[in-house]
Amino acid sequence: MPAAELNGGSIAWREAGEGDRVLLLLHAFPLSSAMWTAQLETPPPDWRLIAPDFRGFGGSGPAPADGLTMDGAADDMAALLAHLEVPTAVVCGLSMGGYVAFAMLRRHARLLRGLVLCDTRAEPDTAETRAGRLEKAAGVRQSGTGAFISEMLPSLLSPFTLKNRPAVVSSVGVQLAEASAGAVSAALHGLAARPDSTPLLRSITVPTQVIAGADDRITPAGEARMMARAIPGARFDIVEDAGHLPNIEQPADFGVVLKAFLAGVP
Ligand code: MLT
Repeated sequence: MPAAELNGGSIAWREAGEGDRVLLLLHAFPLSSAMWTAQLETPPPDWRLIAPDFRGFGGSGPAPADGLTMDGAADDMAALLAHLEVPTAVVCGLSMGGYVAFAMLRRHARLLRGLVLCDTRAEPDTAETRAGRLEKAAGVRQSGTGAFISEMLPSLLSPFTLKNRPAVVSSVGVQLAEASAGAVSAALHGLAARPDSTPLLRSITVPTQVIAGADDRITPAGEARMMARAIPGARFDIVEDAGHLPNIEQPADFGVVLKAFLAGVP
């Protein structure tokens, strides 16, 4: 994997496809750019796909000790695009990747020529969720990621995937197990501290696609539909038989939606 020293840390990324048009794929928590493998295997014609790892994850360097903030990750993504001499990109973020996409909109809006928000939300954590995350971060630092990951795996996937796709279940399990305790803890702190992005929604002017897994229990499809309604002109699609990770659970259906959207981005 290529990597570059950016903003005082090492950022690694995967790449596929060729073209002037760039799709930046931002991964979920606590996964890595490996979650975009199916998309990287079939890039749309004339599109270059870039899938970075946030600090602490995949091939990137360690997460900042004081927390992986969404703003910090957004600044790393902006620095990576500058390093790769990419002036603008369609930014596609799934869950935590969506939170980072919102931070890019706030801090680096001129870099975005389109937006794909998958299984994510604009609202910040409730006080209860925030407290739960900080407790989990302390548990992970003390005892490792094992219990946290065993609890998280089934909540990421649809009943259909859990029942019928053992290879997908085990591949997501392997990806989760690769996350270090330091990265999981740092990201939990960053997720808990993220700001409210709902005031941004009405002001989004770039073409936007919202995608939700029909059976997502972490960021439910009904909430994603409401988010799409708040974004002027946004498209909204549901991927059936998918939970929180539709790009892994139903890559063909996810690809149809993504490619149809990209074909219409000027
Ligand atoms: C993710 O998939 O990135 C996380 O579930 C996000 C979150 O916990 O809010």
